[in-house]
Amino acid sequence: MHARLCASFLLVTLAQVALASLRQLWVPDAAAIEAAAQGFSLAPTPEQTEGPYYPVADDWHNNDLTYIQGQPYKTAGPYLHIDSRLLYPDGSPVSGAVVQIWQCDSNGVYNHPAYQAAYPDKVLNPYFQYFGEAETDENGAFYFLTVPPISYAGRPVHVHVRVFVQGATMLTTQMYFPGDALLSADPFYLAAPDDQKDQLLVTPGATDAEDVHVSQVLVINFSSV
Ligand SMILES: [Fe+2]
Repeated sequence: MHARLCASFLLVTLAQVALASLRQLWVPDAAAIEAAAQGFSLAPTPEQTEGPYYPVADDWHNNDLTYIQGQPYKTAGPYLHIDSRLLYPDGSPVSGAVVQIWQCDSNGVYNHPAYQAAYPDKVLNPYFQYFGEAETDENGAFYFLTVPPISYAGRPVHVHVRVFVQGATMLTTQMYFPGDALLSADPFYLAAPDDQKDQLLVTPGATDAEDVHVSQVLVINFSSV
């Protein structure tokens, strides 16, 4: 028991040291200072499981999942445009963060060795990238162009997200879509605090004849000031 307490204390201490280091690396800008002065306090986006298909990838390429460099064709639409922002709890933008997304394609197929082993009859789309990464700009904004995923294995439609700040994982979550009837029976979504479930939902934007546009504000559990 004593050893367990010591181990817990060590983990907490290491986490505090890591967070302190990150604070030193990030210099708050004027907007952050003003937001903090106004007393903003946003609840962090709830964590969600990364699931079994976190990509095995040395190169996450870019934020356009609809086209693979070197291929003669782009994957077919309709497309999903994800326009989002990453914020600190005080409302200030997280700039220079790396945001990764990964998802199934429009046939419910994941690009992962475990998936291909379990479902050898499922065919990968050679023109879809399945995962990608973007860097947040000075406003904390990031953008992905992809295709709408579909439900698989009874799960609600979702896009997996992971956020890195200064190389450290700061958030692993999933984007869900409002109105999805499967949300009410999904153990992962239901595990989020009731007053924070809405933070896991994208906000629908303009939908034209071809594409779907959504946005979402992600908040990392880390104070910037
Ligand atoms: Fe998934």
